[in-house]
Amino acid sequence: MSKQVLRFGVIGCGLMGREFASAAARWAHLLDMEIKPEIVAVCDTNPKLMEWFSGNFASVKQCTADFNALLENPEIDAVYCAVPHNLHQDLYLAIIRAGKHLLGEKPFGMNLEQNTAILQELKNHPELIVRCSSEFPFFPAAQKIINMALEKKFGRIIEVEAGFHHSSDLDPNKAINWKRMIAVNGEYGVMGDLGFHTVHIPFRLGWKPQNVRAVLSNIITERPDSTGKLVPCETWDNAHLLSSVLHDDYEFPMGLSMKRIAPGEQNTWFIKIAGTELSAEFSTKYPKTLRTMPYSSGAAQAWHDLDVGYDTAYPTITGNIFEFGLGDAILQMWAAFCDEVAGNTPRFQCATALEAASSHKLFTAALESQRASSVVALDWE
Ligand SMILES: NC(=O)c1ccc[n+]([C@@H]2O[C@H](COP(=O)([O-])OP(=O)(O)OC[C@H]3O[C@@H](n4cnc5c(N)ncnc54)[C@H](O)[C@@H]3O)[C@@H](O)[C@H]2O)c1
Repeated sequence: MSKQVLRFGVIGCGLMGREFASAAARWAHLLDMEIKPEIVAVCDTNPKLMEWFSGNFASVKQCTADFNALLENPEIDAVYCAVPHNLHQDLYLAIIRAGKHLLGEKPFGMNLEQNTAILQELKNHPELIVRCSSEFPFFPAAQKIINMALEKKFGRIIEVEAGFHHSSDLDPNKAINWKRMIAVNGEYGVMGDLGFHTVHIPFRLGWKPQNVRAVLSNIITERPDSTGKLVPCETWDNAHLLSSVLHDDYEFPMGLSMKRIAPGEQNTWFIKIAGTELSAEFSTKYPKTLRTMPYSSGAAQAWHDLDVGYDTAYPTITGNIFEFGLGDAILQMWAAFCDEVAGNTPRFQCATALEAASSHKLFTAALESQRASSVVALDWE
């Protein structure tokens, strides 16, 4: 049976735009999909980047520096948008108004006000599938932890810790780029860049902070620009957020950390849940290892390390014994998005616009907490 084709336009052909294209190119990896993406148009203000797409994808028929021209193309059903944060509001609004499904990159608007404008517009287009990119929960071990939580296997939750740590900004000579500029990345700093990855699973599980005390650090305050001249680097490098989560009829502490300066860490995303009946941990540092510790009264407290293999939400050609990596997580996320556009219930739903909106509420409260050196309450009504 021939597959339904979902015709995509890609806006922003940088780091993440190419990751999506690469996932689309290996769609045959997935089994049993009734839909497949085809990239028919690309848009970037840098023409060199579009050459990579037109050179590798015969399906690309339109290359343009003008996103409005791409959105006027009736051959496009859906858009993947991966542009700097200061452009999210204008582009996401235009994409939604053009009636295209959207997988937009986080943080989904540079600040709370911009995010609210996007959410407001979405109300006028309930027919569209609009999701926020977040691939890490698709790691097989992360999926297992999510299922343990949904099945209430943890007993009473003692505490939750989630984080995303990078190390490359430890180098003071690393040149500044847009992610280190408030005007382009936003005032959130590292929270705008890495934060949504950290909160996606807690929010999916309904674990919303009742309050937050944030400690934000700007560790390297100047960086060389492209000419080597030192310029101010004003964004927050690291963020520590401690919060209290109301769950069932009790509260537990949740620590969230986002770091661009975590010595030795390379794209380490992790989640740890400690419970009275079960504890579980996963980190992309050990991508196939799920750590668990079941407990009952009087039993030994022994952690178990299980190599989970390639046990994915969406089945693939890969043998269960092989390893899973970031590219695989991105492919799984795309499978979930396309599956939902095809009208199916996804095996694990991509992050929703409301989940992205919740992250803005938290990060805005975190900025306030940092400014006032105090705990800020959050209301989720
Ligand atoms: N999901 C993830 O794991 C992940 C990882 C990195 C970045 N991101 C997110 O992806 C988005 C893009 O980040 P990136 O690392 O790919 O950045 P990038 O700088 O590599 O790519 C952004 C691209 O947007 C293009 N662009 C700028 N203005 C434009 C315009 N007006 N019209 C069209 N194109 C324009 C730039 O030329 C550039 O090629 C951000 O929202 C970022 O937070 C997500």
